[in-house]
Amino acid sequence: MDTFLSLLSSISWWLWIIIALIIIALRDVLQKNHTISHNYPIVGHVRYLFESVGPEIRQYFVANNREELPFNRIERGWIYASAKKENNYEGFGTDRDIYAHQHIFINNAMMPYQATKDHPNAIDKTFLPCAKVMGEFNQRKRPFRPKSVINVSAMSFGSLSAKAVESLNKGVKMAGAYHNTGEGGLSPYHSNGGDVVFHFGTGYFGVRADDGGFSMEKMVKLVQENPFIRAIEVKLSQGAKPGKGGVLPGAKITPEIAKIRGVEVGKTVLSPPNHKAFSNVTELMIFIEQIAEATGLPVGIKAAIGKLDQWEELADIMVKTGKGPDFISVDGGEGGTGAAPPSFADHVSLPWVYGFGDLYKLFKDKGLSERIVFIGSGKLGFPAKAAMAFAMGADCINVAREAMMSIGCIQAQVCHTNKCPSGVATQSKWLQSGIDPTLKSVRLAQYFKTFRKEFIEITHAAGYEHPCQFTMSDIEVNVDDHNLSKDLSRTYNYNKTKVPFNGMEEFVNCKHLGGQN
Ligand SMILES: Cc1cc2nc3c(=O)[nH]c(=O)nc-3n(C[C@H](O)[C@H](O)[C@H](O)COP(=O)(O)O)c2cc1C
Repeated sequence: MDTFLSLLSSISWWLWIIIALIIIALRDVLQKNHTISHNYPIVGHVRYLFESVGPEIRQYFVANNREELPFNRIERGWIYASAKKENNYEGFGTDRDIYAHQHIFINNAMMPYQATKDHPNAIDKTFLPCAKVMGEFNQRKRPFRPKSVINVSAMSFGSLSAKAVESLNKGVKMAGAYHNTGEGGLSPYHSNGGDVVFHFGTGYFGVRADDGGFSMEKMVKLVQENPFIRAIEVKLSQGAKPGKGGVLPGAKITPEIAKIRGVEVGKTVLSPPNHKAFSNVTELMIFIEQIAEATGLPVGIKAAIGKLDQWEELADIMVKTGKGPDFISVDGGEGGTGAAPPSFADHVSLPWVYGFGDLYKLFKDKGLSERIVFIGSGKLGFPAKAAMAFAMGADCINVAREAMMSIGCIQAQVCHTNKCPSGVATQSKWLQSGIDPTLKSVRLAQYFKTFRKEFIEITHAAGYEHPCQFTMSDIEVNVDDHNLSKDLSRTYNYNKTKVPFNGMEEFVNCKHLGGQN
C-alpha cells in the first residue's frame, strides 16, 4: 500500500493532467450520446462550454444597447433606474435610429398643456387613473375605476415565487394600481392590501369544481371573503401561446402551490386549450353575465388576437342584447409567459398593434367601444409605447415582464426551468431568499409612479391633460421619408372613439376609484 501511495505521489502534476485527459478522451470515444464529443474527443467539450455561456457573453459584452430581445439594454436600464429612483435620463441625444421602419413619433403641441396650481397633477405628479369605469355601462353592483393606468398583468403564484408575488402586491398597494392574479388562483401572497383582478383560465385554479370544471359557488365565496378583488378576468388566450392552454412544470409545483390550485405535487399541470364552462360565443356571453350577476363585479376577457369572425359574433350579440364584457384585455403576440413552445411564442397570434387595431376597429364600427374598457399588454410598459396604445384606443395597460424587472428580474429567460437566478420566477427557497419584499415592493411602486409621471409629461407635451385624449393623428409611424410616414389612423385605418373626459379633477372624488379600501 505504502509503495503504491509513494508511486502516486511521485507522479508529477502535468502527468496527472495528461491521465485525466486520456480518461475523458476514452469516455468521449466510447459514448454515443453526444456525437460531437465522440467525433472530437476533449475538444468537443469546448463547444458545449461556449454554447452554454454564449447568451451571457452576448448579453454582457457583445450585444449593443438596442439589440436584445425581448427587452434591450436601454429598456431594461430605464426600468431598473426608474424602480430605484435613480437618474433614468440619457445624455447626448438618442442612440436610436429614429429613421428606422416602424419607429413611432409623438406629435408635440406648439405649447404644452399647463396644469393650474390646484390641478391634481400639481399636487401629485403621478396621479393618473383610468378615464373609464369598468362595469359602469353594464351597471354592475361594484363598478371599478382603476386608480392607475399601469397595472400588473396576469402572472400566477407558481410561475412566480411567493416573494415576487408578495412584492408585487405590496407594490401595487403603494402605487394605487391593481394586481392580476394570473391563472394560479388567489394566494396569501396576493392578499397584502393591493387591489386584485382575479383571473382564471381553463384550469379554473382557485374556483375549480371537483370534476375540474368551474364552480360558481367557489367564485362567489372567494369574492365575498376577499373584498379587495375588484374585477374578474376570464382568460381565453394569451399572446405567447394562444390555443395552447397553460403549462406549469412539475418542478415548480410545491405542496403549497398544489393546495392552492387543487393539483398534485411535482406533476406538470397542463390546462386544456378549451374552457369546460362554455363552448361557443353565446355561452361565453351567458357565462360572463352569470359571474357578474353572482359576484356584482365587472367581468372581462383576456385574449390574443388572430381571426376576427368569433369576435364579430361577440360584438353582434353585444349589440343585440345590450350586455357583454366590461373590459377586454388584448395581449400581443410578443407577450411573455412562464413556459411556452417557441413555435407558439414566435408565430401564433398577431403583434399587439395589429391585433389591437383590428379588434378595436371592429368594436368601434359596431358602436361598442365606449362600453368597454380596453386594456393592452405586450411590451407597453414604456411611456411612449403607452402613448401609442392610448392613441389607438387603450384605456389602461398591463405589464408583466416590466414589473418582474422592476423587482429584480435580469431577463435570464429561464422561467420554465425553476432556476431563475433572481428568485422572481422560481419556487426554489434558496433562490428566492435574496428577495426582500419590503424593498422590492417599493421598487415596483417607484417604477409605476415614474412611468405615470413621464406619461403625464408626454401627454402634456402633446397638449393634453389625460392620455385618453390622444388621437390616432397624434402618433406617426415611420414607413420611410417623413412625407411618406403615416399617422396611426392612416396606418391602421380607423379613428378611436372620443373618451368622455371632463378633467382630472372629476377622478379625484370618484366613488369607484380603486386603491382605497
Ligand atoms: C412569468 C409569466 C407568467 C404569466 N402568466 C400568465 C397567466 O397566468 N395568464 C395569462 O393570461 N398571462 C400570463 N402571462 C402573460 C402576461 O400576463 C402578459 O400578458 C404578457 O407577458 C405581455 O405583457 P408584458 O409584455 O408586459 O410582459 C405571464 C407572463 C409571464 C412573463
